Amino acid sequence: MRRLLLIALVCVSLAACAPPENLAADGSKIVVGFSQVGAESGWRTANTVSIHDAALDAGIKLRFSDAQGKQANQITAIRSFIKQRVDVIAFSPVVETGWDEVLTEARQAGIPVILTDRAIRTTSKDLYTTFIGSDFVKEGTLVGEWLVDYYASRPGTVRVVELRGTTGSAPATDRAAGFRAAIKGEPRFQIVASRTGDFTRPKGEAVMRAILKTDRDIDVVFAHNDDMGLGAAKALEAAGLQPGRDVRIVSIDAVRDGMKALAEGRFTFIAECSPLLGPQLMDLVNKIANGQPVPPRIVTQETTFTQEQAKAALPDRKY
Ligand code: AHR
Repeated sequence: MRRLLLIALVCVSLAACAPPENLAADGSKIVVGFSQVGAESGWRTANTVSIHDAALDAGIKLRFSDAQGKQANQITAIRSFIKQRVDVIAFSPVVETGWDEVLTEARQAGIPVILTDRAIRTTSKDLYTTFIGSDFVKEGTLVGEWLVDYYASRPGTVRVVELRGTTGSAPATDRAAGFRAAIKGEPRFQIVASRTGDFTRPKGEAVMRAILKTDRDIDVVFAHNDDMGLGAAKALEAAGLQPGRDVRIVSIDAVRDGMKALAEGRFTFIAECSPLLGPQLMDLVNKIANGQPVPPRIVTQETTFTQEQAKAALPDRKY
C-alpha cells in the first residue's frame, strides 16, 4: 500500500514538471501542417515565431511550409500535408478565392482544416472547421473613424493616398471596405490614389515615390500595414516632406517598427492587428484532433494606438 502511494506521488510530481503534451486520441503526438503566406512583413515574421513557439510549448509536431506569397505554393503544400496524413491542416491564405478544390481533397481525406489569420471565399462552409483571426473590416473602420474625428477641428479637403495590401487578400479587401464605410458621410475626404504595395516596405516606398512624382498635395497616407507605411515615410522624406507634420501616416498592425515610428511622431495613428495567434491555434489543433467541439469563428482581441499611447506601450512590446 505504502509503495503504491509512493508511486502515485512520484507520478503526480513528474506530471507537474513535464512539458504539457497534447496527444492524439491514440496517444501519439499530434501533427499539424501549416502553410504560411511568406515573410512579407514584420507582422508575418512575428506570426511565424508565435506559431513555432506555441507548437513547441504544446508538444505538437509542426510541419511548416513558406509559400513565398504564392497561392500555387500553398496548394502544393496542402496536397503534401494530405499525402503525409497530418492530423490537422492550418493555413493563412494568400488570397481569398480558389481554395474549393484542394480543401475538398482535404475533406475527402478526413483531415480538418483551420483558417488562420485570413478568411477565404467559398460557398461550402464545411470546407474548414474554424477560422481564427482579426476583424479586418473593423481595423479599416477604426482608422477611418479616427481620421474623421481628428479632422473635425481642421477644415478643408483631406486628400488621402491609400497603400493597399496584396490584391485579392482578405485584409486588403476588408480594410479598404471598412475605411470607405467610415469616411462615406464625409465628402471632404478624397481618396486621390489607391495602389497596392503588396504589404512590403520596399513596394510601399516605390509606390509612394511614383505617386509623389505627379502629386505632392497629400494630407494623409493610409497604409494597410506598418511596413508599407514605413516605406512611404522614407519616400516622403526623400521628397523633402516630413511625415507627421506635412503628411499624416495612419496604418494597421502595431509591430515594433511601426510603434517606434508612431512614438517618434513619424506616424500619427495605428490600429492593432495581433500576430500572436500561435497559442490559440495550438489549442484549437489539440481540441479538433481529439474530436472536441470548437467555435466556427474566433476573433482576435485588439486595440488602437495614438502617439502618446505608443510611447507608453513600446517598452513592453513583444514584437
Ligand atoms: O493578414 C495580416 C496582414 O498580413 C498584416 O496586416 C500584414 O502586415 C501582413 O502581411
